[in-house]
Amino acid sequence: MIDLVKNYAITTRRIKKSVIRELLKLTNKPGVISFAGGLPDPDAFPVEWIEEVTMKVIKENSKSSLQYGPTDGMPELKREIVKHSKKLGENIRDENVLVTTASQQGLELLGKVFIDPSDPVIVELPSYIGGLQVFGAYSAKMHGVPMDDNGIRTDLLEELIIKLKKDEERYKFLYLVPDFQNPSGVTLSQERRKKVLELSYKYDFLVVEDSPYKDVRFEGTPPATLQSMDGLKSVITLRTFSKIFVPGIRVGWVVANEDIISKMALAKQAMDLCTSSLCQLIAAKFCELGYLDKQIAFVSKRYKEKRDLMMSALEKYMPKVEGLRWTRPDGGLFLWLELPKNLSADELFPKAIEEKVAYVIGSAFHCDGSGANTMRLNFSFPTHEQIDEGIKRLGNLVKKQLVNQK
Ligand SMILES: Cc1ncc(COP(=O)(O)O)c(C=O)c1O
Repeated sequence: MIDLVKNYAITTRRIKKSVIRELLKLTNKPGVISFAGGLPDPDAFPVEWIEEVTMKVIKENSKSSLQYGPTDGMPELKREIVKHSKKLGENIRDENVLVTTASQQGLELLGKVFIDPSDPVIVELPSYIGGLQVFGAYSAKMHGVPMDDNGIRTDLLEELIIKLKKDEERYKFLYLVPDFQNPSGVTLSQERRKKVLELSYKYDFLVVEDSPYKDVRFEGTPPATLQSMDGLKSVITLRTFSKIFVPGIRVGWVVANEDIISKMALAKQAMDLCTSSLCQLIAAKFCELGYLDKQIAFVSKRYKEKRDLMMSALEKYMPKVEGLRWTRPDGGLFLWLELPKNLSADELFPKAIEEKVAYVIGSAFHCDGSGANTMRLNFSFPTHEQIDEGIKRLGNLVKKQLVNQK
Protein backbone atom coordinates (compact mmCIF):
# COMPACT_ATOMS: atom_id res chain seq x y z
CA MET A 1 0.00 0.00 0.00
CA ILE A 2 1.34 3.42 -0.91
CA ASP A 3 2.11 5.66 2.09
CA LEU A 4 -0.52 8.31 1.43
CA VAL A 5 0.42 10.52 4.35
CA LYS A 6 3.95 10.93 3.04
CA ASN A 7 2.65 11.79 -0.41
CA TYR A 8 0.09 14.38 0.58
CA ALA A 9 1.22 17.99 0.18
CA ILE A 10 1.97 19.92 3.37
CA THR A 11 -1.18 22.01 2.92
CA THR A 12 -3.32 18.86 2.61
CA ARG A 13 -1.81 17.46 5.76
CA ARG A 14 -2.58 20.74 7.46
CA ILE A 15 -6.27 20.87 6.54
CA LYS A 16 -8.22 20.10 9.65
CA LYS A 17 -11.51 18.24 9.59
CA SER A 18 -14.33 20.68 10.17
CA VAL A 19 -15.57 20.17 13.72
CA ILE A 20 -18.99 21.20 12.51
CA ARG A 21 -19.13 18.53 9.84
CA GLU A 22 -18.00 15.91 12.35
CA LEU A 23 -20.64 17.01 14.86
CA LEU A 24 -23.29 17.18 12.17
CA LYS A 25 -22.87 13.45 11.63
CA LEU A 26 -24.05 12.89 15.22
CA THR A 27 -26.93 15.28 14.83
CA ASN A 28 -28.36 13.24 11.98
CA LYS A 29 -29.48 10.51 14.43
CA PRO A 30 -33.23 9.91 14.31
CA GLY A 31 -35.26 12.13 16.59
CA VAL A 32 -32.48 14.68 17.19
CA ILE A 33 -33.66 18.29 16.87
CA SER A 34 -30.74 20.11 15.38
CA PHE A 35 -29.84 23.76 15.86
CA ALA A 36 -26.37 22.82 14.65
CA GLY A 37 -26.43 23.26 10.88
CA GLY A 38 -26.28 26.60 9.13
CA LEU A 39 -28.74 25.77 6.41
CA PRO A 40 -31.41 28.02 4.92
CA ASP A 41 -34.99 26.77 5.20
CA PRO A 42 -35.57 24.51 2.16
CA ASP A 43 -39.31 25.18 2.35
CA ALA A 44 -38.49 28.80 1.49
CA PHE A 45 -36.72 27.96 -1.77
CA PRO A 46 -38.42 29.76 -4.67
CA VAL A 47 -38.85 26.60 -6.72
CA GLU A 48 -41.41 27.87 -9.23
CA TRP A 49 -39.48 31.05 -9.98
CA ILE A 50 -36.32 28.99 -10.45
CA GLU A 51 -38.11 26.73 -12.91
CA GLU A 52 -39.41 29.71 -14.87
CA VAL A 53 -36.09 31.55 -14.89
CA THR A 54 -34.06 28.47 -15.83
CA MET A 55 -36.30 27.68 -18.80
CA LYS A 56 -36.10 31.30 -19.94
CA VAL A 57 -32.30 31.36 -19.72
CA ILE A 58 -31.90 28.13 -21.67
CA LYS A 59 -34.42 29.13 -24.32
CA GLU A 60 -33.20 32.69 -24.79
CA ASN A 61 -29.52 32.15 -24.21
CA SER A 62 -28.54 28.55 -24.81
CA LYS A 63 -25.28 29.38 -26.58
CA SER A 64 -23.73 31.35 -23.74
CA SER A 65 -25.48 29.71 -20.78
CA LEU A 66 -24.18 26.27 -21.73
CA GLN A 67 -20.72 27.46 -22.80
CA TYR A 68 -17.57 28.32 -20.82
CA GLY A 69 -17.65 31.93 -19.72
CA PRO A 70 -15.12 34.66 -18.81
CA THR A 71 -13.23 33.92 -15.58
CA ASP A 72 -14.25 37.20 -13.96
CA GLY A 73 -17.95 36.57 -14.59
CA MET A 74 -20.79 36.91 -17.11
CA PRO A 75 -21.52 40.53 -18.06
CA GLU A 76 -25.27 40.06 -17.44
CA LEU A 77 -24.62 39.12 -13.82
CA LYS A 78 -21.95 41.76 -13.28
CA ARG A 79 -24.47 44.37 -14.40
CA GLU A 80 -26.91 43.22 -11.70
CA ILE A 81 -24.16 43.10 -9.08
CA VAL A 82 -23.07 46.66 -9.87
CA LYS A 83 -26.71 47.78 -9.51
CA HIS A 84 -26.93 46.01 -6.12
CA SER A 85 -23.72 47.76 -4.99
CA LYS A 86 -25.04 51.15 -6.13
CA LYS A 87 -28.13 50.65 -3.95
CA LEU A 88 -25.74 50.22 -1.02
CA GLY A 89 -23.98 53.47 -1.87
CA GLU A 90 -20.93 51.74 -3.34
CA ASN A 91 -19.47 53.46 -6.35
CA ILE A 92 -18.09 50.54 -8.36
CA ARG A 93 -17.72 49.39 -11.96
CA ASP A 94 -17.66 45.97 -13.64
CA GLU A 95 -13.87 45.89 -13.21
CA ASN A 96 -14.33 45.88 -9.44
CA VAL A 97 -16.32 42.62 -9.47
CA LEU A 98 -15.18 39.03 -9.61
CA VAL A 99 -17.90 36.40 -9.74
CA THR A 100 -16.98 33.38 -7.62
CA THR A 101 -18.27 29.87 -7.06
CA ALA A 102 -19.96 31.27 -3.94
CA SER A 103 -18.20 32.98 -1.04
CA GLN A 104 -16.24 29.98 0.11
CA GLN A 105 -14.26 30.29 -3.12
CA GLY A 106 -13.77 33.98 -2.37
CA LEU A 107 -12.15 32.96 0.91
CA GLU A 108 -9.96 30.37 -0.81
CA LEU A 109 -8.85 33.04 -3.31
CA LEU A 110 -7.94 35.37 -0.48
CA GLY A 111 -5.74 32.67 0.97
CA LYS A 112 -4.09 32.00 -2.36
CA VAL A 113 -3.49 35.65 -3.23
CA PHE A 114 -2.49 37.08 0.14
CA ILE A 115 -1.20 34.53 2.62
CA ASP A 116 2.40 33.38 2.84
CA PRO A 117 3.17 30.72 5.46
CA SER A 118 3.11 32.17 9.00
CA ASP A 119 1.64 35.53 7.97
CA PRO A 120 -0.51 36.87 10.77
CA VAL A 121 -4.20 37.13 9.90
CA ILE A 122 -6.49 38.92 12.34
CA VAL A 123 -9.90 37.38 12.99
CA GLU A 124 -12.81 37.91 15.33
CA LEU A 125 -13.29 35.80 18.46
CA PRO A 126 -15.49 33.95 17.49
CA SER A 127 -15.20 33.78 13.70
CA TYR A 128 -16.63 31.85 10.73
CA ILE A 129 -15.16 28.38 10.79
CA GLY A 130 -14.88 28.11 6.97
CA GLY A 131 -12.65 31.20 6.97
CA LEU A 132 -10.48 29.83 9.77
CA GLN A 133 -10.13 26.58 7.84
CA VAL A 134 -8.88 28.31 4.70
CA PHE A 135 -6.45 30.62 6.51
CA GLY A 136 -5.17 27.64 8.53
CA ALA A 137 -4.62 25.59 5.38
CA TYR A 138 -2.45 28.44 4.00
CA SER A 139 -0.49 28.31 7.28
CA ALA A 140 -1.54 31.74 8.51
CA LYS A 141 -0.86 32.56 12.15
CA MET A 142 -4.30 33.47 13.44
CA HIS A 143 -4.72 36.25 16.01
CA GLY A 144 -8.16 36.58 17.55
CA VAL A 145 -9.69 39.83 18.80
CA PRO A 146 -12.66 39.58 21.22
CA MET A 147 -16.08 40.95 20.30
CA ASP A 148 -18.88 42.47 22.33
CA ASP A 149 -22.46 43.37 21.40
CA ASN A 150 -21.14 46.03 18.96
CA GLY A 151 -18.80 43.72 17.09
CA ILE A 152 -15.01 43.52 17.19
CA ARG A 153 -13.37 45.46 20.08
CA THR A 154 -11.46 48.09 18.13
CA ASP A 155 -9.45 49.14 21.21
CA LEU A 156 -8.06 45.59 21.49
CA LEU A 157 -7.59 45.45 17.73
CA GLU A 158 -5.34 48.51 17.87
CA GLU A 159 -3.37 47.05 20.78
CA LEU A 160 -2.79 43.86 18.79
CA ILE A 161 -1.69 45.70 15.66
CA ILE A 162 0.77 47.85 17.61
CA LYS A 163 2.23 44.67 19.06
CA LEU A 164 2.47 42.95 15.66
CA LYS A 165 4.10 46.04 14.22
CA LYS A 166 6.63 46.16 17.04
CA ASP A 167 7.45 42.48 16.44
CA GLU A 168 7.82 43.29 12.70
CA GLU A 169 5.15 40.80 11.78
CA ARG A 170 3.79 41.05 8.21
CA TYR A 171 0.11 41.26 9.10
CA LYS A 172 -1.99 41.70 5.98
CA PHE A 173 -5.66 41.60 6.61
CA LEU A 174 -8.41 41.69 9.15
CA TYR A 175 -11.23 39.22 8.47
CA LEU A 176 -14.67 40.40 9.56
CA VAL A 177 -18.22 39.09 9.21
CA PRO A 178 -19.79 42.44 10.11
CA ASP A 179 -23.50 41.74 9.58
CA PHE A 180 -25.43 39.23 11.73
CA GLN A 181 -22.19 37.40 12.15
CA ASN A 182 -21.86 33.68 11.73
CA PRO A 183 -21.61 32.46 14.48
CA SER A 184 -22.68 35.13 17.00
CA GLY A 185 -25.46 37.02 15.19
CA VAL A 186 -23.79 40.32 16.20
CA THR A 187 -23.57 43.33 13.84
CA LEU A 188 -20.61 45.71 13.82
CA SER A 189 -21.81 49.18 14.88
CA GLN A 190 -21.48 52.21 12.62
CA GLU A 191 -18.99 53.83 14.99
CA ARG A 192 -16.77 50.74 15.08
CA ARG A 193 -16.89 50.48 11.28
CA LYS A 194 -15.44 53.97 11.10
CA LYS A 195 -12.77 53.06 13.62
CA VAL A 196 -11.84 49.84 11.76
CA LEU A 197 -11.24 51.85 8.59
CA GLU A 198 -9.25 54.53 10.42
CA LEU A 199 -7.01 51.79 11.83
CA SER A 200 -6.68 50.17 8.42
CA TYR A 201 -5.38 53.44 6.90
CA LYS A 202 -3.18 54.24 9.88
CA TYR A 203 -1.53 50.82 10.16
CA ASP A 204 -1.77 49.71 6.54
CA PHE A 205 -3.84 46.53 6.48
CA LEU A 206 -6.66 45.27 4.29
CA VAL A 207 -10.13 44.65 5.67
CA VAL A 208 -12.14 41.66 4.44
CA GLU A 209 -15.88 42.24 4.73
CA ASP A 210 -17.51 38.81 4.39
CA SER A 211 -21.20 39.55 4.38
CA PRO A 212 -23.60 36.76 3.36
CA TYR A 213 -26.38 37.76 5.76
CA LYS A 214 -26.60 41.54 5.36
CA ASP A 215 -29.83 41.54 3.32
CA VAL A 216 -31.61 39.15 5.70
CA ARG A 217 -32.57 41.97 8.10
CA PHE A 218 -35.66 41.74 10.30
CA GLU A 219 -35.67 45.22 11.81
CA GLY A 220 -33.60 48.32 12.53
CA THR A 221 -31.53 50.55 10.27
CA PRO A 222 -28.63 48.89 8.46
CA PRO A 223 -25.22 50.44 9.06
CA ALA A 224 -23.30 51.51 5.96
CA THR A 225 -21.27 48.78 4.29
CA LEU A 226 -17.53 48.97 4.91
CA GLN A 227 -17.11 48.98 1.12
CA SER A 228 -19.29 52.10 0.71
CA MET A 229 -17.39 53.89 3.49
CA ASP A 230 -14.00 52.97 2.07
CA GLY A 231 -14.42 53.54 -1.66
CA LEU A 232 -12.25 50.67 -2.95
CA LYS A 233 -9.12 51.57 -1.00
CA SER A 234 -8.64 48.84 1.57
CA VAL A 235 -11.84 46.80 1.76
CA ILE A 236 -12.39 43.49 -0.02
CA THR A 237 -16.06 42.51 0.14
CA LEU A 238 -17.38 38.96 -0.27
CA ARG A 239 -21.05 38.44 -1.09
CA THR A 240 -23.16 35.44 -2.08
CA PHE A 241 -26.56 34.33 -3.33
CA SER A 242 -26.56 31.41 -0.86
CA LYS A 243 -28.72 32.94 1.85
CA ILE A 244 -30.86 35.28 -0.24
CA PHE A 245 -31.58 32.98 -3.19
CA VAL A 246 -30.43 29.33 -2.85
CA PRO A 247 -27.06 27.86 -1.78
CA GLY A 248 -27.27 25.17 -4.46
CA ILE A 249 -26.71 27.81 -7.14
CA ARG A 250 -23.11 28.26 -5.85
CA VAL A 251 -22.70 31.83 -7.07
CA GLY A 252 -21.13 34.67 -5.14
CA TRP A 253 -18.88 37.64 -5.84
CA VAL A 254 -15.99 39.75 -4.62
CA VAL A 255 -15.92 43.56 -4.76
CA ALA A 256 -12.51 45.22 -4.50
CA ASN A 257 -10.14 47.53 -6.31
CA GLU A 258 -9.23 46.56 -9.85
CA ASP A 259 -5.72 45.43 -9.01
CA ILE A 260 -6.89 42.96 -6.37
CA ILE A 261 -9.69 41.71 -8.64
CA SER A 262 -7.30 40.96 -11.49
CA LYS A 263 -4.93 39.03 -9.17
CA MET A 264 -7.85 37.05 -7.76
CA ALA A 265 -9.18 36.37 -11.29
CA LEU A 266 -5.81 34.92 -12.28
CA ALA A 267 -5.85 32.66 -9.23
CA LYS A 268 -9.43 31.62 -10.00
CA GLN A 269 -8.57 30.74 -13.59
CA ALA A 270 -6.27 28.00 -12.34
CA MET A 271 -8.95 26.76 -9.97
CA ASP A 272 -12.07 26.34 -12.08
CA LEU A 273 -11.73 28.47 -15.27
CA CYS A 274 -15.09 30.05 -14.53
CA THR A 275 -18.15 29.77 -12.33
CA SER A 276 -21.03 27.89 -14.03
CA SER A 277 -22.35 30.13 -16.83
CA LEU A 278 -25.81 28.60 -16.48
CA CYS A 279 -25.99 29.33 -12.76
CA GLN A 280 -24.71 32.88 -13.26
CA LEU A 281 -27.33 33.62 -15.91
CA ILE A 282 -30.08 32.11 -13.75
CA ALA A 283 -28.98 34.38 -10.89
CA ALA A 284 -28.83 37.39 -13.24
CA LYS A 285 -32.32 36.75 -14.61
CA PHE A 286 -33.65 36.21 -11.09
CA CYS A 287 -32.41 39.68 -10.18
CA GLU A 288 -33.52 41.26 -13.46
CA LEU A 289 -37.12 40.08 -13.04
CA GLY A 290 -37.29 41.56 -9.54
CA TYR A 291 -37.57 38.13 -7.87
CA LEU A 292 -34.49 38.62 -5.70
CA ASP A 293 -36.00 41.56 -3.81
CA LYS A 294 -39.22 39.60 -3.28
CA GLN A 295 -37.33 36.53 -2.09
CA ILE A 296 -35.26 38.61 0.36
CA ALA A 297 -38.46 40.08 1.83
CA PHE A 298 -39.97 36.58 2.05
CA VAL A 299 -37.06 34.87 3.82
CA SER A 300 -36.51 37.82 6.14
CA LYS A 301 -40.12 37.63 7.32
CA ARG A 302 -39.92 33.86 7.70
CA TYR A 303 -36.66 33.90 9.65
CA LYS A 304 -37.89 36.76 11.85
CA GLU A 305 -40.79 34.56 12.97
CA LYS A 306 -38.33 31.78 13.77
CA ARG A 307 -35.97 34.17 15.60
CA ASP A 308 -38.91 35.44 17.68
CA LEU A 309 -39.97 31.91 18.51
CA MET A 310 -36.48 30.94 19.59
CA MET A 311 -36.17 34.08 21.74
CA SER A 312 -39.43 33.36 23.55
CA ALA A 313 -38.57 29.67 23.97
CA LEU A 314 -35.24 30.68 25.53
CA GLU A 315 -37.04 33.06 27.90
CA LYS A 316 -39.49 30.30 28.80
CA TYR A 317 -37.17 27.33 29.23
CA MET A 318 -33.71 28.58 30.21
CA PRO A 319 -32.95 28.92 33.92
CA LYS A 320 -32.52 32.48 35.20
CA VAL A 321 -28.95 32.34 36.46
CA GLU A 322 -26.04 34.74 36.35
CA GLY A 323 -23.78 34.35 33.34
CA LEU A 324 -26.42 32.70 31.13
CA ARG A 325 -27.22 35.01 28.23
CA TRP A 326 -27.91 34.99 24.52
CA THR A 327 -27.76 37.49 21.66
CA ARG A 328 -30.84 38.93 19.94
CA PRO A 329 -29.82 39.24 16.28
CA ASP A 330 -31.68 41.75 14.09
CA GLY A 331 -31.24 39.42 11.13
CA GLY A 332 -29.39 36.41 9.77
CA LEU A 333 -29.63 32.75 10.74
CA PHE A 334 -27.92 32.38 14.12
CA LEU A 335 -27.84 33.37 17.73
CA TRP A 336 -25.17 32.83 20.33
CA LEU A 337 -25.65 31.47 23.80
CA GLU A 338 -23.22 31.87 26.68
CA LEU A 339 -23.46 29.48 29.61
CA PRO A 340 -22.19 30.42 33.07
CA LYS A 341 -18.38 30.19 33.02
CA ASN A 342 -18.32 26.97 35.06
CA LEU A 343 -20.36 25.08 32.44
CA SER A 344 -18.78 23.69 29.31
CA ALA A 345 -20.80 23.47 26.10
CA ASP A 346 -18.13 21.07 24.80
CA GLU A 347 -18.78 18.65 27.70
CA LEU A 348 -22.53 19.14 27.48
CA PHE A 349 -22.63 18.18 23.80
CA PRO A 350 -22.75 14.34 24.11
CA LYS A 351 -25.43 14.70 26.79
CA ALA A 352 -27.40 16.99 24.48
CA ILE A 353 -27.28 14.32 21.78
CA GLU A 354 -28.59 11.78 24.34
CA GLU A 355 -31.44 14.21 25.05
CA LYS A 356 -31.94 14.49 21.28
CA VAL A 357 -31.02 18.12 20.76
CA ALA A 358 -27.91 19.50 19.01
CA TYR A 359 -25.96 22.73 18.70
CA VAL A 360 -22.47 23.69 17.58
CA ILE A 361 -19.88 24.08 20.32
CA GLY A 362 -18.67 27.68 20.44
CA SER A 363 -15.02 26.71 20.91
CA ALA A 364 -14.95 25.49 17.28
CA PHE A 365 -15.26 29.13 16.18
CA HIS A 366 -12.40 30.40 18.37
CA CYS A 367 -8.99 30.33 16.72
CA ASP A 368 -7.37 30.16 20.17
CA GLY A 369 -9.58 27.30 21.44
CA SER A 370 -11.36 29.53 23.99
CA GLY A 371 -15.15 29.92 24.30
CA ALA A 372 -15.81 26.53 25.94
CA ASN A 373 -18.94 27.92 27.63
CA THR A 374 -20.54 29.10 24.37
CA MET A 375 -22.70 27.61 21.62
CA ARG A 376 -24.22 28.61 18.28
CA LEU A 377 -27.91 28.04 17.68
CA ASN A 378 -29.40 28.12 14.17
CA PHE A 379 -33.02 29.16 13.84
CA SER A 380 -33.55 29.18 10.05
CA PHE A 381 -33.68 25.42 9.46
CA PRO A 382 -35.78 23.88 12.26
CA THR A 383 -39.58 24.06 12.15
CA HIS A 384 -41.59 26.11 14.67
CA GLU A 385 -42.46 22.99 16.64
CA GLN A 386 -38.84 21.83 16.66
CA ILE A 387 -37.67 25.23 17.93
CA ASP A 388 -39.99 25.09 20.95
CA GLU A 389 -39.35 21.44 21.77
CA GLY A 390 -35.59 21.64 21.12
CA ILE A 391 -35.06 24.68 23.35
CA LYS A 392 -37.16 22.97 26.05
CA ARG A 393 -34.80 19.96 25.90
CA LEU A 394 -31.76 22.23 25.98
CA GLY A 395 -33.16 24.28 28.87
CA ASN A 396 -33.83 21.14 30.91
CA LEU A 397 -30.34 19.87 30.21
CA VAL A 398 -28.74 23.14 31.35
CA LYS A 399 -30.87 23.10 34.53
CA LYS A 400 -29.79 19.50 35.26
CA GLN A 401 -26.17 20.38 34.66
CA LEU A 402 -26.36 23.37 37.02
CA VAL A 403 -27.73 21.12 39.77
CA ASN A 404 -24.95 18.57 39.17
CA GLN A 405 -22.29 21.29 39.37
CA LYS A 406 -23.37 22.29 42.89
C1 LIG B 1 -19.55 34.09 6.97
C2 LIG B 1 -19.66 33.13 5.85
N1 LIG B 1 -18.84 33.26 4.79
C3 LIG B 1 -18.91 32.41 3.75
C4 LIG B 1 -19.82 31.38 3.73
C5 LIG B 1 -19.84 30.46 2.53
O1 LIG B 1 -21.02 30.60 1.83
P1 LIG B 1 -21.20 30.20 0.31
O2 LIG B 1 -19.96 29.53 -0.15
O3 LIG B 1 -22.39 29.31 0.29
O4 LIG B 1 -21.44 31.48 -0.39
C6 LIG B 1 -20.69 31.20 4.81
C7 LIG B 1 -21.64 30.08 4.81
O5 LIG B 1 -22.35 29.80 5.73
C8 LIG B 1 -20.61 32.10 5.90
O6 LIG B 1 -21.42 32.01 6.96
